[in-house]
Amino acid sequence: MLLYILGLVALWFVYRWCKELKRVSNKEEKYVYITGCDSGFGNLLARHLDKLGFRVIAACYTEKGEDELKKISSDRLTTTHLDVSNSESVSKAAAAIKTLVGVKGLWAVVNNAGVAVPSGPSDWLTIEDYKSMLTVNLCGVIDVTLSVLPLIKKAKGRVVNVASVFGRISPFGGPYCVSKYGVESFNDSLRLNMAPFGVKVACIEPGFFKTNVTDTVILKNNLQRLWDRLPQDVKDDYGKAFLDQGMKGLDDRFKVFTDSDLMKVVGCMEHAVSAVHPRTRYSPGWDAKFLWLPLSYMPTCISDKLFLKSNPKPQISVL
Ligand SMILES: NC(=O)c1ccc[n+]([C@@H]2O[C@H](COP(=O)([O-])OP(=O)(O)OC[C@H]3O[C@@H](n4cnc5c(N)ncnc54)[C@H](OP(=O)(O)O)[C@@H]3O)[C@@H](O)[C@H]2O)c1
Repeated sequence: MLLYILGLVALWFVYRWCKELKRVSNKEEKYVYITGCDSGFGNLLARHLDKLGFRVIAACYTEKGEDELKKISSDRLTTTHLDVSNSESVSKAAAAIKTLVGVKGLWAVVNNAGVAVPSGPSDWLTIEDYKSMLTVNLCGVIDVTLSVLPLIKKAKGRVVNVASVFGRISPFGGPYCVSKYGVESFNDSLRLNMAPFGVKVACIEPGFFKTNVTDTVILKNNLQRLWDRLPQDVKDDYGKAFLDQGMKGLDDRFKVFTDSDLMKVVGCMEHAVSAVHPRTRYSPGWDAKFLWLPLSYMPTCISDKLFLKSNPKPQISVL
């Protein structure tokens, strides 16, 4: 009986593998709009899709990002300036894209742009800190998507949203997980809403990868800045040792978890854009697959115990 079940499971994996091999045709006629192409996954995806023959519209936050990308890509790739937190900038980019793609519409948008700071314990942050990240990571994704959705419906194309495995579980405080849970929710409702129009919506949920988002120098500077501005009573609650252990914990954990092979994520993004049968969710990274996602399915009392045990304790902790 066990062998029979194992055989069926193996057969299902082979069937899925074969089904997922098929790629869409006429890549050279398909426009793909990617946000946050200055660095990290977005930059690598823009170069990768350009090499595969897609017409890439790479949105960069900085002029330097645009110039560097242009230098190393084919003349099929066009760049545009985009600040996803600014609706005027989003509309301007969408208008330029509408003219560029013409009657065929836009094949795909990849909502990749994102920030990871300010990040810290929830009571170290202000509502302005939350708003600043939500404006980029969540409202930016929604704004960019809505701005080009009519063009995507025309092409019966795709929306690819880069969330995070921290859109499935919240092991630390601050707006990052809040924003990524929001992206997951927007992604899921959009997938249902767009299905009747032949538009496919996919979500990428990476674990830890080596980019600016996981740069420990940036993250530690951010923690120090938040600590320095805390009122004395909150500093007394936590104690300086909490900050020191937090900084050390960042170094130790990121050394273990952070994967430098960005192609694991970019390969998933490429599949979501170019496969005939893309998945609804991709969770690249061994930590996402074998740690964070399984933890997210566990009873809260178990995951809480684990996180509380591994996190530094405030000076006046009752635990
Ligand atoms: N790295 C990871 O471990 C990891 C894990 C899960 C999810 N993610 C997600 O993956 C996505 C890409 O991040 P990454 O890891 O590749 O880091 P990254 O190199 O920092 O890429 C983020 C990109 O977004 C751009 N950006 C920042 N603010 C923007 C704004 N207001 N408007 C337009 N663009 C803006 C950045 O431009 P500048 O470089 O000029 O600031 C950068 O090009 C993010 O959504 C991130 O949350 C990353």
